[in-house]
Amino acid sequence: MSNWRIRDFHSSDLDGILHLWESLKADGVEPVYALSEVLASCEKDHAVVAVQGDQVVGAAVGRAAHDQGWIVFLATLTEFRGRGIGTSLLSAVENRMAPHGLNKLSALMPETETRVEAFLGRGFVVKKNLRYFERTIPVQRQELGALGLLGGRILARDLWENVAGMRREKELLERRLVLPLAEADLADEYGVVPPRAVVLFGPPGTGKTTFAKAIASRLEWPFVEVFPSRLASDPKGLAGALRETFLEIAELEHAVVFIDEVEEIASQRAGDPPSPLQGVTNELLKIIPAFREQPGRLLVCATNFIRALDTAFLRHGRFDYVIPIGLPDVHAREAMWQRFIPATVVDDVDIAQLVDRTEGFSPADIEFAARSASQRALEKAVYDDGAGSGGSADVASGSNGRKGPVTQDYLDAIADTRTTVSPEVHQDFLEDIDVLGRV
Ligand SMILES: Nc1ncnc2c1ncn2[C@@H]1O[C@H](COP(=O)(O)OP(=O)(O)OP(=O)(O)O)[C@@H](O)[C@H]1O
Ligand SMILES: [Mg+2]
Repeated sequence: MSNWRIRDFHSSDLDGILHLWESLKADGVEPVYALSEVLASCEKDHAVVAVQGDQVVGAAVGRAAHDQGWIVFLATLTEFRGRGIGTSLLSAVENRMAPHGLNKLSALMPETETRVEAFLGRGFVVKKNLRYFERTIPVQRQELGALGLLGGRILARDLWENVAGMRREKELLERRLVLPLAEADLADEYGVVPPRAVVLFGPPGTGKTTFAKAIASRLEWPFVEVFPSRLASDPKGLAGALRETFLEIAELEHAVVFIDEVEEIASQRAGDPPSPLQGVTNELLKIIPAFREQPGRLLVCATNFIRALDTAFLRHGRFDYVIPIGLPDVHAREAMWQRFIPATVVDDVDIAQLVDRTEGFSPADIEFAARSASQRALEKAVYDDGAGSGGSADVASGSNGRKGPVTQDYLDAIADTRTTVSPEVHQDFLEDIDVLGRV
């Protein structure tokens, strides 16, 4: 008995497709393609349905690109199985795709799916030794416009791993920020309210900006930096422009919003008459509560002059944590030297000595010293060594055995590097941790 027939998909069949989708799920099959994709392909690509009377009893949906076609959906209602409907659907959808001149037709199937007769019936063969990989792209297409206007971007995926050393800070940020934000449902089960705003403070060059970016990279959220100095030239004024920027940010699904040198716009509201910046501080104080109500975003403010901040600005309820980012300890300095010394020579350099000589150096200072050592060594190799021949070809072939900087180059560079953080500034920082830090 064959009182079913196959015809092209019409928009009015959407309910039927939905019903088929649900019956698949009811059978415990987790389809590879999302429902939204299948529905989009029904409208835009190639779809056929099997109907009995008015009822949709089966469907096949395919899409074609270049030489290859993909079956993104194939289903028949349970009570209509075993009648060859699946095979006919496949044949029909293949016909619809034929004008593309495909030379291969493929289908992905959950491993647990056992009803594959239709595919076998149409000459598909199971490919062995294949694995399926997928990655969810963190920013949706419709967000790209808003993100572009804000100058926001998705950062490289490895920034978090690339923060050398700083184990204590990393662990703290991982536990307090990344965990509850990345695992929002789990956090909710435990009654943890995910943080919405944090301040990173510490002397110059210790890695505050680096950490803010690394957090965004780790969460795979877009990174949006707000530049008060740029907003200041806005015709709406700094306060108005700030408000507008945060309204645009509210359009994004997720974001790490970064304000560097926040002391510039949130300094002590002292003095009479009030400074022109006071309006901006007040605006920011108003913006933060609204920002805090939206899930999926984190405000990171950085400052190296935390004592200058308005006390109201820092209070509980506005910022969840006030986190110190200090000078690197022995382990962190060692990790940084390992990172900054070229791999070709790293085993020959006395790193312990460099670590010892760079106490009080910030990561930025260490990076600077490492770069200048490399530059010096290169110049020495090209211009000073090699008995006057000076050709870079000699250097490359290592005529003098030198292949990169040696320990002495690093020690010289260290001796010539002026540290950014003076002992007094560091002492102030330690006091700030006691008085203002909150982790
Ligand atoms: N843990 C680290 N590992 C490797 N490099 C680092 C690390 N921390 C910082 N750096 C490097 O040191 C330099 C300064 O870091 P960064 O700009 O993040 O410091 P900052 O605290 O934001 O400084 P400022 O207070 O001046 O804004 C950057 O070039 C960064 O790449
Ligand atoms: Mg910075």
